[in-house]
Amino acid sequence: MLGFCFQMAIFAQNFNTQMRTNRTFTMIKPDAVEKGHIGAILEKINSAGFRIAAMKLTHMTTADAKEFYAIHKERPFFGELVEYMTRGPIVAAILEKDNAVEDFRTLIGATNPADAAEGTIRKLYAASIGENAIHGSDSDENAAIEGAFHFSGRDTF
Ligand code: CMP
Repeated sequence: MLGFCFQMAIFAQNFNTQMRTNRTFTMIKPDAVEKGHIGAILEKINSAGFRIAAMKLTHMTTADAKEFYAIHKERPFFGELVEYMTRGPIVAAILEKDNAVEDFRTLIGATNPADAAEGTIRKLYAASIGENAIHGSDSDENAAIEGAFHFSGRDTF
């Protein structure tokens, strides 16, 4: 019985750790898709050690974008953001790696490309704070919510 409880505790810990720390969600945004940067950005993601758990080319509707970015609905740039994110296809993906959320945000760089470190995806491919080429979840909790917004369990591997 003690052995079973111990095994369950280890399972719960592993499950929790996996759920909490090893997945993030990303979108290669319409500006980067339009400019033909999908391949170069995926190469950076692969080289940084992320495994692709789910991926698709998709086009968000206005309703999708309003729901996805609901947290920003009171911000002055909300309308501009919805228009931008719906003007063309995006690549949505769930990525896996230890410390995925934090490491991916390091890889993509600051929200404003003017502040992004050399070599980061936004420094290389983003034009402005609004049209900033790529999204990365800001927490494990949001990574799970955002991933589930775009992918069902059977589309995630
Ligand atoms: P991201 O951090 O992926 O998600 C929120 C998005 O809102 C952000 O990328 C930008 O695309 C956009 N955004 C953030 N700040 C501004 C701003 N000051 N002006 C216009 N767009 C912004």
